[in-house]
Amino acid sequence: MKDIVQQLETRRETARMGGGEKRISSQHAKGKLTARERVELLLDDGSFEEFDMFVAHRCTDFGMEETRPSGDGVVTGWGTINGRLVYVFSQDFTVLGGSVSATHAQKICKIMDMAVQNGAPVIGINDSGGARIQEGVDSLAGYGEVFERNIRASGVVPQISLIMGPCAGGAVYSPAMTDFIFMVKDSSYMFVTGPDVVKTVTNEQVTAEELGGATTHTRKSSVADSAFENDVEALAEVRRLVDFLPQNNRSKAPVRPFFDEPDRLDTSLDTLVPDNPNTPYDMKELILKLADEGDFYEIQEDFAKNIITGFVRLEGQTVGVVANQPMVLAGCLDIDSSRKAARFVRFCDAFEIPLLTLVDVPGFLPGTSQEYAGVIKHGAKLLYAYGEATVPKVTVITRKAYGGAYVVMSSKHLRGDFNYAWPTAEVAVMGAKGATEILYRSELGDAEKIAQRTADYEERFANPFVAAERGFVDEVIAPQTTRKRVCRAFASLRNKQVHVPWKKHDNIPL
Ligand code: HXC
Repeated sequence: MKDIVQQLETRRETARMGGGEKRISSQHAKGKLTARERVELLLDDGSFEEFDMFVAHRCTDFGMEETRPSGDGVVTGWGTINGRLVYVFSQDFTVLGGSVSATHAQKICKIMDMAVQNGAPVIGINDSGGARIQEGVDSLAGYGEVFERNIRASGVVPQISLIMGPCAGGAVYSPAMTDFIFMVKDSSYMFVTGPDVVKTVTNEQVTAEELGGATTHTRKSSVADSAFENDVEALAEVRRLVDFLPQNNRSKAPVRPFFDEPDRLDTSLDTLVPDNPNTPYDMKELILKLADEGDFYEIQEDFAKNIITGFVRLEGQTVGVVANQPMVLAGCLDIDSSRKAARFVRFCDAFEIPLLTLVDVPGFLPGTSQEYAGVIKHGAKLLYAYGEATVPKVTVITRKAYGGAYVVMSSKHLRGDFNYAWPTAEVAVMGAKGATEILYRSELGDAEKIAQRTADYEERFANPFVAAERGFVDEVIAPQTTRKRVCRAFASLRNKQVHVPWKKHDNIPL
């Protein structure tokens, strides 16, 4: 018996060594942790339980029967993050370059099936040379099985991807279908076709980092949600994110202890909005002042900065925040900001996370580049996402809420539950200057008259009271009371129920 136990331990030790010391050193030399080190850092100490440690591939081509490493290039299993169950897979680049064989894919599928069955998030750590070349179509079939599971799990359990090395070719489509993608600067990249193919086909010369590195995907393409300096930071941030999320679409996000009074007043908010309506101010200041302990987890911080998305807690409960940012493009909506916010709103709705919307929007960004690139369809995504969302929706208009963008930003007309406005709010079809220039075109030569007309328009429409008279704004609130009002509003909505007519699925303007 003792011998058998000893044998087991020896086998385990071999499996734990992955591709061996030399390749582990080479992984470390690239500034990367090994698959197992990553899992250890991601999960609570000692909580990891491994599946399929001894799984080996069945390929007999190209002499592969001679090399059958235990685990087949991916470490899979489950553990906890701050005591809550998660499933995890972590590709091991030291074993055959983390390449995906049929059995490697089966291991991933197994834990995805477990995650859906048991209602817990899936976290995938990607570090792979792609399809195992020796296995050909068996490998492609394996990817297909993983993709299908990504789709089935979407909206059922949160799916989070970490890109911590190569992720290229069709392999990118598994992370692409997950809810969040995090990358590590300088050591990870994602692209459909690499620099060599790009050079051959389009004659463009580009490095892997420029083509698909963390900076590219967090600033230009928006494929990734955040970029981190190194593996350790990325893993710690994923732990922080998981704390905000529910386990699945049937359970609520965890309620954390909080030490911040829900009715805390903040008199500095009374002067947040400048006197001049064209002067920007930082909407993040409002978010931080509303949140429990000023804790804000921002999503896509480096992309479409004219809109802010992320998670806060109010009275310990997770709330998704969408806020126009007057500091960038005056906070207007455009293609990128609409897409960014729409996806965030849909995530929150899928996982029953209430939505807080902070509005200061002068309208949609004009221009041929926007129209030619389809701002109509992309803007509609955000409109649609807000309209279909059945989670509690609380909105605060701090300043401008003009035109179509007013309606889009979680207005009363899209079944907003509480629509508050600050006294500085301007709910109107457009700004006073634009309006008078259209209404009194014939008087444009007379500056004095136009100034008077503009002042009249401002007096009449640049306020929240016209909307409040009609019930489109439920209440005009003092800025300093916003946290209290918003906390109370969400508290009153905890048992909100909305019945929607049966449909197979919607047809959101993709
Ligand atoms: C089998 C692979 C492999 C692969 C790497 N290795 N990729 N083995 N299949 N796809 C092995 C290498 O042979 C090597 O083995 C070890 O992993 C480390 O690889 P290196 O090349 O030494 O590492 P590095 O220099 O860091 O380069 C990493 C790399 C490169 C850029 C990823 O390995 C590479 O270009 N690999 C091929 C990528 C590729 O074309 N994949 C198929 C893409 S198509 P030893 O024994 O020497 O340590 C695809 C389709 C998916 O993925 C479709 C889904 C629908």
